Amino acid sequence: MGNKRKVCIIGMGYIGLPTAALLANRGYQVHGVDVNQHVIDTINRGEIHIVEPELDTFVHSAVKSGSLTANIDPAEADIFMIAVPTPFHTNKLNKTTNSPIPNVDYVIDATKKIAPYIRKGNLVLLESTSPVGTTDRIVEVLEREGVSTNGIYIAHSPERVLPGHIMRELIENDRVVGGINVESTKKAAEFYRDFVEGEVFETNAKTAEMAKLTENSFRDINIAFANELSILCDDEDIDVGELITLANRHPRVNILSPGCGVGGHCISVDPWFIVDRSNGKAKLIEQARRVNDYKATWVVEKIKSSILSFEKERKRRPKIACMGLAFKPDIDDLRESPALHIAQELSKEFDVVAVEPNIEICDPLKIVSLEEGVNADISIYLVAHKEFNDKLVTQYDLVFCGLMKI
Ligand SMILES: NC(=O)c1ccc[n+]([C@@H]2O[C@H](COP(=O)([O-])OP(=O)(O)OC[C@H]3O[C@@H](n4cnc5c(N)ncnc54)[C@H](O)[C@@H]3O)[C@@H](O)[C@H]2O)c1
Repeated sequence: MGNKRKVCIIGMGYIGLPTAALLANRGYQVHGVDVNQHVIDTINRGEIHIVEPELDTFVHSAVKSGSLTANIDPAEADIFMIAVPTPFHTNKLNKTTNSPIPNVDYVIDATKKIAPYIRKGNLVLLESTSPVGTTDRIVEVLEREGVSTNGIYIAHSPERVLPGHIMRELIENDRVVGGINVESTKKAAEFYRDFVEGEVFETNAKTAEMAKLTENSFRDINIAFANELSILCDDEDIDVGELITLANRHPRVNILSPGCGVGGHCISVDPWFIVDRSNGKAKLIEQARRVNDYKATWVVEKIKSSILSFEKERKRRPKIACMGLAFKPDIDDLRESPALHIAQELSKEFDVVAVEPNIEICDPLKIVSLEEGVNADISIYLVAHKEFNDKLVTQYDLVFCGLMKI
């Protein structure tokens, strides 16, 4: 154990824990840090608190061999890695753009936490998706905490892994690495090249920060285009599925699928980090965010008008089933989920149950069996879970456009 390089990772979530477990199995001595005692106890038992294929095997063997431990407090290390959440503030809006304000408090707190343990020659890595300028703020915070950053290497390397494939993608994906200076970039890139099989691209900190935000904004804008088409087609009584299939026969057109909105803690959050700093100049990125958020509102209104028609025709209140609550198919993640939002909005006024094959409890919504959902008066397919496939006519029936069986 003596000659192993030591890594201290702050934040033992979907990013921090898989990275910790991978490094611990690759010859590093890893010390994981979290504010949540339950998380720490679970890891120290060699178990996991999140759902991710193969992660349990990695954590179990790392803990058993003694190369992974977890604690509330950080420890001295050669490399510090920050992998804490970067959401936005829920109760504040940017006055210029009327948009959510990024919350980097967790990053600042993690930086303060590691400050007493940092020594000359250490490498500090920010992996959290961050607004441009956050890596520079780490330098400021460390200096304020009395750490001279001269001789300390500080860099950002955004994580791009896809949940469900994290253990493979941590190794195979290309990485962008940007330091606060050239030496920091080189040191950080050298570290990632030790375990990453993809290419490691060197740049500066601001470009690395912007690269991740750009990737997610690109996705958001392209989905917004599909969502806007679905709304326009509904007015014109055009089948948006057919339309997109036909348009995509053009050799240079590739329109994505519309859905009931955009969710998750990445694509529906990160573009706001660009908008917040743009002084109103990120018009397209902002508009795409608003189009995707509006799609969920539009879906609610469409469903309400169908419910009214049902009530008028049948002279009774319908039983409504929302099919799928997660933010995308075949996962259990409800963060920023438009499907969950739609179900919650409808349940304020109507008798609503939900079918979510990946989740057992979602209070106060009642989760029912697939059969019960299918047999409701109105079944609204919000998420293309594989369990719903044979209930649907085409992929696009699902997209709300949403197939409603009445
Ligand atoms: N999950 C993904 O698929 C994914 C992909 C790419 C990038 N990211 C980014 O990675 C970052 C982390 O995301 P995640 O999904 O791992 O989050 P997560 O919520 O799963 O885990 C974060 C962990 O950090 C802990 N924590 C919070 N504040 C802390 C502090 N001050 N000190 C110590 N621990 C603290 C929390 O208790 C939690 O266990 C975010 O910026 C996210 O946007 C996530």
